Amino acid sequence: MTKAHSQRSPSQRSHGQHSDSSQSKAQRHAPKGPADGEVGIASIGIHLPPLGLDVRELARLRGVDPNKFTLGLGCGEMALCPEGLGTVDLAAEAARRAIERWGGDPSRIGLLAVGSESAVDMSRPLSAFVAEKIGLRGAVRSYEVKHACYGGTLALRQAVEWKRSGASRGRAALVIAADVALYAPQDPGEPTQGAGAVAFVVDDARIAAIDVDSFAWSDPAFDFWRPVGESFPRVDGPLSLDCYKRAAEQCFRQWIGERPARQAMQSAEAWCFHVPFPKMVKKAALHVADSLGWSEDEGKEFFERKVAGTMGWNRRVGNSYTASLWMSVAETLVGKESGTRIGAFSYGSGFGSELFGLTAGPEAAEGAWAEDIEKDFESRSMLTAEQYAEQRGEVMEAADEADAA
Ligand code: HMG
Repeated sequence: MTKAHSQRSPSQRSHGQHSDSSQSKAQRHAPKGPADGEVGIASIGIHLPPLGLDVRELARLRGVDPNKFTLGLGCGEMALCPEGLGTVDLAAEAARRAIERWGGDPSRIGLLAVGSESAVDMSRPLSAFVAEKIGLRGAVRSYEVKHACYGGTLALRQAVEWKRSGASRGRAALVIAADVALYAPQDPGEPTQGAGAVAFVVDDARIAAIDVDSFAWSDPAFDFWRPVGESFPRVDGPLSLDCYKRAAEQCFRQWIGERPARQAMQSAEAWCFHVPFPKMVKKAALHVADSLGWSEDEGKEFFERKVAGTMGWNRRVGNSYTASLWMSVAETLVGKESGTRIGAFSYGSGFGSELFGLTAGPEAAEGAWAEDIEKDFESRSMLTAEQYAEQRGEVMEAADEADAA
């Protein structure tokens, strides 16, 4: 990638790149894909655990109106791990799938970064557990990245920056975002649970180039945290919603900069967000629109046209924390023509956030990685409320009461 190319702003990259008057009108309007050798996502692998739960079953168990979970929160299903399966297993299988699809020589991998908030040790990084499982050792910089749900994004950006800096000496990076998101039984967050892993080989931008420009915003808060030694997070629900919305507003403001807001927002065909639950994303998109002075109808139209369609997989996976945004990005890239621009907004409690653009590469159209998640959806077993309660070691009184009502 040339320096001039990498330093173009998102709007410059998607507009005005075809000055040759001999080009046909169609050619002039075709979006331009990543340049030869541009750094980006060369391969994607996804893995989900083999169990699922429809949130309506959870509602039955908890004696709650199912509409609260489906309409109020926008949730559909959640992915769940059976006893004995965890983040390391999910991460390792996603990595295997990404490496196989990449087709490169694994000895070319010089960096392994795992973004997660499901650490299994305070000292030994998750990457060491994963590397052991996939047999990756040697001249590899291997580490774990933590910043709540933002950790996967940080790992990916670091890998891209490592490659762009020249420090990689032409080698590829393996980046994995993986988590198991469980709340205490009966916690308000329970319907938003989920699990999954998305792995990327960062090399040439066959699937997508990632912009150099990115727009971060952080503001320390206790909106969601998990003290050392505790199994489940503590959450200040209303504060977490507020932090997420503020983060989105600040990142979008920076992204827009001095440009006319509407033009800047339209420069991406789709906007992917971190998805703790789909309604959160709608709230944030409407908040951003409102902060730009748009009418309620305009905000809703923006959400429907540019955002709503990016969360199909998330609705069936639940909140997979670090992997959640990247499930949305992976789904959104499937079938995209080379050169199509999409945006990604990452949020992690605590809080940190970042927004940047991606440009679809030539292999996005094929969307080969969709087969991973389709296969996992198809083969997973959906639990009944009773089976879920048993899995969590609960007695089924609540469900019995709900059934009797
Ligand atoms: P709650 O307090 O039980 O729910 O938990 P509620 O009473 O606020 O209701 C939720 C929505 O359902 C409301 O809609 C209700 O009106 C509606 P809204 O007014 O907000 O549009 N509702 C109904 N709709 C239809 N029919 C009904 C009905 N009843 C109610 N019968 C809460 C909600 C989000 C607090 C909870 O799920 C929670 O604690 N979740 C975890 C925290 C979270 O996800 N926060 C999001 C931002 S922070 C983030 O994204 C980071 C995170 O991913 C972690 C990380 O970074 O690592 C979480």
